[in-house]
Amino acid sequence: MSLNPRLQHWPGQRVWLVGAGHGIGAALAETLQQQGARVALSGRTEAALQAVAQQRPDMPVHVMDATQPDDWARVRDALLAEWGGIDLVIVMAGDYTPLRAWELTPETARRMVDINLLAPMYAAAACVPQLMAQQGGGLVLVASVAGWSGMSNGLVYGATKAAVNHFAQTLYLDLHRHGIGVYLVNPGFVATRLTAQNGFAMPALLRPEQAADAILHGLARGRFDIHFPRRFTLALKLAAHLPYRLYFWLAHKVTGL
Ligand SMILES: NC(=O)c1ccc[n+]([C@@H]2O[C@H](COP(=O)([O-])OP(=O)(O)OC[C@H]3O[C@@H](n4cnc5c(N)ncnc54)[C@H](OP(=O)(O)O)[C@@H]3O)[C@@H](O)[C@H]2O)c1
Repeated sequence: MSLNPRLQHWPGQRVWLVGAGHGIGAALAETLQQQGARVALSGRTEAALQAVAQQRPDMPVHVMDATQPDDWARVRDALLAEWGGIDLVIVMAGDYTPLRAWELTPETARRMVDINLLAPMYAAAACVPQLMAQQGGGLVLVASVAGWSGMSNGLVYGATKAAVNHFAQTLYLDLHRHGIGVYLVNPGFVATRLTAQNGFAMPALLRPEQAADAILHGLARGRFDIHFPRRFTLALKLAAHLPYRLYFWLAHKVTGL
């Protein structure tokens, strides 16, 4: 039995995608729209959102900063006025700066915590009461395999994504008995502007369109933990359970850092 409602039929589904202007979010918006969903696009850069919406019907654009709780409430209310309800909220917005221990500053730490950890919390604060009132719908939180175990360069980023895994588990415990889906997405490496900063050969690198397909596949099966590509993520899950002595040796060897 699946842990979440299986999302297989998209025609008419009202999806709010935050972080839709670039990368995986842009690819997912396009795929969902092709499947018949009504997709509202949010992010900070209007031009990027308009480029995704171009020549496609029924893709309203709502510019917002996901680190601002008031923006979540404002756009939620605008969509409720427009649509009368929201079936799925996807929190794709995120940021990554490769960081070694000696490069850490309070400003970088705060920036990544704000967007990667607090934004999903603000999303839940803004949307869970509405989903409860509707007695249905779902929330998709995008974390990362970087949150599963410590990895050089992932200082702060990995910690925020580990916290998103934890947050999603606890949300699930509270919400699934109310018929509300909580879907956690843990991608491996996907070629976007974020990973373009990595100065090493990324194993099992996917294109954003492949990541979008993998997310849809996981939603269709009602999975809680949607991780991909599985040839890579299953190995990582295993590595995370190694004794530390072995894990640290392996992590140095794989990243070369
Ligand atoms: N690429 C990977 O290998 C990978 C792996 C694991 C997890 N992820 C996660 O997947 C998600 C998408 O990443 P991506 O690789 O597709 O990166 P991306 O191309 O940079 O996309 C990130 C999106 O988030 C938006 N965003 C950033 N800050 C925002 C803010 N304050 N308010 C609203 N929107 C904001 C960006 O748009 P604006 O800048 O226009 O606002 C952009 O559309 C992130 O959560 C990332 O951590 C990515």
